[in-house]
Amino acid sequence: MAKPTKIDYENKLILAPMVRINSLPTRLLSLDYGADLVYSEEIIDHKILAAQRIENKLLGTVDYEMPDGTIIFRTCPKEEGKVVFQMGTADAERALKAAKKLEKDVLAIDVNMGCPQLFSLKGGMGAALLTQPEKIKNILTTLVNGLNIPVSCKIRILPELSDTLELVKLIERTGVCAIGVHGRTIDERPRHPNQNNVIKAITQTVNIPVIANGGSKEILCYNDIESFKQETNTKCVMLARAAQWNPSIFRKDGLLPLEDVIKQHIKYAVEYDINAMNTKYCLLQIMHNSMDMAEGQPMLDSKHLSEMCDIWKLEEFYKTIQRMRIKKRERLMDDENIYNNKIIAKRMKTEDGSILIQLPVRFIKSNYPGNISPKQLLHTKYMKKHTKAPPYNTVQRDSDKCFKSVLCFDGKKYTTPYWEKSKQLAEQGAAITCLISLGVHDGRINNNETEDEDLRSKWREMISDNNSVQKSTETSSKPAGESCNAQIDKKEYTETSNQIGINGEDSDVKT
Ligand SMILES: Cc1cc2nc3c(=O)[nH]c(=O)nc-3n(C[C@H](O)[C@H](O)[C@H](O)COP(=O)(O)O)c2cc1C
Repeated sequence: MAKPTKIDYENKLILAPMVRINSLPTRLLSLDYGADLVYSEEIIDHKILAAQRIENKLLGTVDYEMPDGTIIFRTCPKEEGKVVFQMGTADAERALKAAKKLEKDVLAIDVNMGCPQLFSLKGGMGAALLTQPEKIKNILTTLVNGLNIPVSCKIRILPELSDTLELVKLIERTGVCAIGVHGRTIDERPRHPNQNNVIKAITQTVNIPVIANGGSKEILCYNDIESFKQETNTKCVMLARAAQWNPSIFRKDGLLPLEDVIKQHIKYAVEYDINAMNTKYCLLQIMHNSMDMAEGQPMLDSKHLSEMCDIWKLEEFYKTIQRMRIKKRERLMDDENIYNNKIIAKRMKTEDGSILIQLPVRFIKSNYPGNISPKQLLHTKYMKKHTKAPPYNTVQRDSDKCFKSVLCFDGKKYTTPYWEKSKQLAEQGAAITCLISLGVHDGRINNNETEDEDLRSKWREMISDNNSVQKSTETSSKPAGESCNAQIDKKEYTETSNQIGINGEDSDVKT
């Protein structure tokens, strides 16, 4: 379906971009309560380019996943046509490349020109752009001309009114569809009054829609939004902090009790498998003035979505979603033998006759207790009878300096499909593959124990000795078994790894 090239900004209420807050649950809740459009948090162009776009069949989402497994942006059909992606950038061509990647998943691209944080300013992004008219012109015109979706930007005002008006005129000439204006200068903090009169002057200077922002301190209920519109002479308002504290601020019929909002947020977090720490952060913002309620301390102590569900009496909801997910996962596996477009488990025979097992697992530090890692667990508990340290064969790829490791244990080799940023991560991944293959727990602490165990037993089934093996062309100069801790020639390893599909790009080999 062709994407709209214009956005109707007439009387629109918008969720303003907020780092860490604007994850999928906050955006969906805001839409449920009455927001017309929702912004993502600012994500920089480099990250988008480094991320892999994955159609997540299990959750029904589109994910942008970093090489370390972190999801930087997850969107779903419920927000289709309503989500504006905010990008941090200092370079027109890079911005366009990143935006092109996102084009089919978002309604519009917004360029952040207001962030006063040091990391933004240092990188020439955010508010650093405000004083670089040529760069602004270049970035915005490149995006406007190169994209098939609308482009907007969000600015802060400059200390002098005349400079601000010159700036917005320049921005208008680039062809953007709207300008979001936070009525404070870079040096002003949230406690300073928002300069609504400057926003009003902007509306009298340009003909494109102006989205008024910065009024949250005075917006305590829905009706206050109308006053903000009148003071700024705008038809469109963007709220950040008011929505961070209670997204039902968008509700015509008035604010909902915090408990209702929190429960809805948790439900979306469970439904879309959102990172527990991010969820906790958002919920603590909602609870910020009410930490003395009974749920306050348990929330501070919670680490997993299942615990948050217990605290808010959503245990049944949690179990139901997990059960449904297990069933769906089974269906997906049975249908396609794949999970999330990735081959889920591989058992291959190397040229030296040894078996190579590959599982799509990664070591994500927060998922494991601080005191014992999968490598330590494997070494201390399961390798007792072996005198030598686990034989990891770890190589570094020249192109991006990333690492891959193959662990040899009891005559079999274990690895993952991923090239990792550090040697340690690569070896932990190989150790996790080994532990799971051996049928023992890898020490992971997580939300979805049942679900995880289910997936792992499916993997074990797929790689079991009874299943036929795929012939791999990996070569090793030494026979299989303990002695396979011999150094594999790096070049040969990389080439042969590519052939057997362990370079991160899964081959279509099915076990
Ligand atoms: C937690 C938080 C994170 C924010 N992150 C972003 C961001 O990613 N991009 C951006 O342009 N502004 C960001 N802002 C600024 C807001 O979008 C908004 O301009 C500012 O809070 C003023 O609006 P308000 O009065 O409605 O809060 C953030 C603000 C907060 C409170």
